[in-house]
Amino acid sequence: MTIVLIGYMASGKTSVGKLLAKKLNYRFIDLDDFIEDKEGATIKEIFNSKGEIYFRKKETQYLKELLQANEENTVLSLGGGAPCFGENMDEVIKAKHAISIYLKGTVPFLANKLVQKRSKRPLISHIDNVEDMSEFVGKHLFERMPFYSKAEKHVVIDHKSKPEIVEDMVSILF
Ligand code: S3P
Repeated sequence: MTIVLIGYMASGKTSVGKLLAKKLNYRFIDLDDFIEDKEGATIKEIFNSKGEIYFRKKETQYLKELLQANEENTVLSLGGGAPCFGENMDEVIKAKHAISIYLKGTVPFLANKLVQKRSKRPLISHIDNVEDMSEFVGKHLFERMPFYSKAEKHVVIDHKSKPEIVEDMVSILF
């Protein structure tokens, strides 16, 4: 089985995904790290040198490969935009042996975290205060919601510890 974690930037897909994988004794793959390895460049460098459209093409290509591989039990964390481009979310839903979980955070919760954690994220690295970040995240999340909502399971993350989120995921999965 592949457990696919989706959600907005800073919703903890990577950190919580690693914990979940450890608990279940699954392999862990982060799609952004996978892209960085394959491309030999950071996400920031890819956006700067080749642009977002190139990044989205690679994201779609590697996601497809990882969904098809399915050799081992895996927790697969996607970048925040991955479900929202091309047919990616439909591919996740269609993939045999895959189950998707949306890590759902509110705008104020995510915006507060993102102001601190924006440097490696090209889409928001220029936004340096909570008010502007809240406005951006509010609009962006609204656009992305139709994609995130398609996930088979939803877990609320606001003000929960990582182990609590993992517990919630385990209880809805098994
Ligand atoms: C993006 C999210 C990032 C990364 C890229 C674009 C997005 O991943 O894929 O910067 O479009 O939301 P995280 O969600 O892990 O920050």
